[in-house]
Amino acid sequence: MDPSELKKIQIAVDGYSACGKSTLAKGLAGRLGYIHIDSGAMYRAVTLFAIQENIIADGKINKNLLIRKLPEISIKFRLDNDNNPITYLNEVNVEDKIREIEVSDFVSEISAIPEVRHKMVAIQQKMGENKGIVMDGRDIGTVVFPDAELKIFLIADINVRTQRRYNELKSKGYDVDFEVVKENLMQRDKFDMSRSESPLRQADDAMVFDNSDITKEEQLEKAYKLALSIIENEN
Ligand code: DC
Repeated sequence: MDPSELKKIQIAVDGYSACGKSTLAKGLAGRLGYIHIDSGAMYRAVTLFAIQENIIADGKINKNLLIRKLPEISIKFRLDNDNNPITYLNEVNVEDKIREIEVSDFVSEISAIPEVRHKMVAIQQKMGENKGIVMDGRDIGTVVFPDAELKIFLIADINVRTQRRYNELKSKGYDVDFEVVKENLMQRDKFDMSRSESPLRQADDAMVFDNSDITKEEQLEKAYKLALSIIENEN
């Protein structure tokens, strides 16, 4: 049975920073013939906009100015030749720039601004209207798609997560320090969990996957089987 020809579902993948949410979401979407949206990329694009427009200066964010300029921000995803979604900020490809540490340092604070969240959530809900979507983030199962048929909440040991993010940044040629990467992840988790507007938390009906000791492939297989059984039940 080809899942892309059956009635489609929404899949939410949430969890802490660098738990492999995007890797799982992308793999799952690929196997199901669904769209994959990395919602973190959208908050990263807003953060990059704020840096480029000098809305962030001397380590401080001018929140009122950012809120006023929100209508100037357009974020889109376009598929590259390998079917990977590439993030565009105001029609410019920013896929690499949004992963830089300067963006990572401010993205949690930017994503805690309610006006920013309202704009992003509205775009995300529109993208998921027709289902057939796997979206990863922090509030997908709780706020963006509260009725998602499958919700996965990923967890992994902090050192495992740091090593993965460190390797990823190194492989892209960034000169990073393990402890700095770890500190950034811990800070962001703390911030993401404690903000008042849609904080990171596990949805009551989410399935928890701890991937500290399993491979990406094993995790994908487990999630795919789970998704298939739900899809079959829905059809
Ligand atoms: O998934 P990521 O690390 O690229 O996300 C970057 C930041 O964006 C993260 O620190 C928290 C925020 N974020 C959020 O608040 N809500 C989402 N749905 C996705 C990301």
